Amino acid sequence: MSVLVCGGAGYIGSHNVKALIEQGEDVIVLDNLWTGHKAAVPEQAKFYKGDVRDGAILDKIFTEHKIDAVLHFCACSLVGESVEKPLLYFNNNVGGMQSLLEAMTRNHVNKIVFSSSAAVYGEPKSVPIFEDDPTNPTNPYGESKRIMERIMHWVGLAHNIKYVSLRYFNVAGARHDGSMGEDHRNETHLVPIILQVPLKKRSHVTVYGDDYKTKDGTCIRDYVYIEDLAAAHILALNYLRDGGESEIFNLGSGDGYSVMEMINAARKATGRDIPVEIGARRAGDPARLVADSKKARKILGWSPKVTRMEDIIATAWRWHLGHPNGYPDIE
Ligand code: NAD
Ligand code: UFG
Repeated sequence: MSVLVCGGAGYIGSHNVKALIEQGEDVIVLDNLWTGHKAAVPEQAKFYKGDVRDGAILDKIFTEHKIDAVLHFCACSLVGESVEKPLLYFNNNVGGMQSLLEAMTRNHVNKIVFSSSAAVYGEPKSVPIFEDDPTNPTNPYGESKRIMERIMHWVGLAHNIKYVSLRYFNVAGARHDGSMGEDHRNETHLVPIILQVPLKKRSHVTVYGDDYKTKDGTCIRDYVYIEDLAAAHILALNYLRDGGESEIFNLGSGDGYSVMEMINAARKATGRDIPVEIGARRAGDPARLVADSKKARKILGWSPKVTRMEDIIATAWRWHLGHPNGYPDIE
């Protein structure tokens, strides 16, 4: 049996493809290369360039391969952009889920592992955040993920499709051997932005606000290492294969780091000076997002291995040093 990875050319998807291959899985990748890179897809995977909203290409893949489960990473995922272009987010994210579940139903595929997000919670009343805490997204991106979860719930009941929804907190780092990393051409994520300073691609990091009610006034996030995240997907896949019921899990390390602590960790990991300027708050940023991931630890047996921020940033630094221009452009 094969596993279909939708969005497998992206940052998180490609690391998952590699991890699946290392487990001996046969992997098929579908990606429209909007933000992903063909060069990020490990060569052992069979690659289809196409859109998850295109039912015909999904039927072709399900016909050409015996697929028992789908990992679904496709999404537009920039919070700010989602506020400006909500229809793009509902079309691509919600429309992609609809199309995928329709094709899975047509082709009798009944297991899906889905990339959800801490963005479904919005501004939490308290941290750490538990899976059954209220979900009040503060932007269309988070709303699209919440809708996608609800669609899986109802379609799952009607058509006996089991799902695991993994609500990632902030994903960071690169593959331990420096061979794969994060290459978003329109970069907004904190860790790669910090590293652009020692890479001489920007003069300083702008910290979005230092007047939050946190220990040093900057926002706190829970950063989870990319390879630990990939390990959670394999556990989720095997959980479903073992007959597990549909579930939602937070994935975070459980520790909160402020933006300034991240910059200090990057200074240590790179041995370079990283100048900082304090800027305005970024609209929609919650002050504190920290996961309670005990449920994933208990039910999936997940245990993140790399949790020291300096170590996580060191893996990203290694990749960027080896790939100063990111992945090569190949189609
Ligand atoms: P990414 O942009 O690198 O990966 C997304 C991939 O999906 C890209 O390769 C893109 O080309 C592809 N894609 C998008 N729309 C598609 C479509 N309609 N058809 C086919 N392919 C399509 O993003 P990422 O950082 O790897 O994130 C992966 C998933 O994880 C996303 O769903 C994102 O919302 C979620 N997530 C990411 C983070 C994070 O910290 N990076 C946190 C929480 C959730
Ligand atoms: N930040 C800065 N300066 C920058 C970039 C970011 O100060 O140049 C700050 C942000 O304000 C925030 C923190 O660094 O406080 C992390 O920002 P990111 O943009 O790296 O990540 P977000 O927390 O905004 O969002 C990420 C993913 C979302 C996901 C969310 C879940 O991009 O997809 O984590 O926590 F939903």
